Amino acid sequence: MSKISTISDCKIIDLPKIHNRSGNLTAMNEGIEVDFNIARVYYLYDIPGGESRGAHAHYELEQIIVAASGCFDVVLDDGINKKSFTLNRPYQGLYVTPGIWRDLVNFSSGAILLVLASLKYSESDYIRNYDDYLAYKKV
Ligand code: TYD
Repeated sequence: MSKISTISDCKIIDLPKIHNRSGNLTAMNEGIEVDFNIARVYYLYDIPGGESRGAHAHYELEQIIVAASGCFDVVLDDGINKKSFTLNRPYQGLYVTPGIWRDLVNFSSGAILLVLASLKYSESDYIRNYDDYLAYKKV
């Protein structure tokens, strides 16, 4: 799956928004909005405005990325095609399959990037070199 996955396997998921006078709430439930087992939640914050992160792929990890606050672009690349998603709504998530290169760019100041992940952190699941990634995908 990871070797043959493409950016068309990645998609925006609309999440429920519970709205009332005192603000909004969005929840993600395993088995409802989230198709994988949630092993880990992490978030990026205090990112300087205009900064870039990411620049890696994962062999096995599935993720849903949410702009919990602010705005940034996620550029997905399957070795052949690239697609950029602007995330700026806390009630939308971007599902990213295993085997997709991602660059996280154009962070607004104060942005919070929230991630639901299918596996615990493991450096051995990362591909951090783009040429190694292309060789893995055999493109
Ligand atoms: P990395 O995944 O490269 O961050 P980004 O894609 O946002 O640029 O991780 C940055 C550092 O944090 C790296 O040293 C690994 C560490 N890290 C953990 O210890 N646990 C985690 O769950 C994650 C995601 C990263």
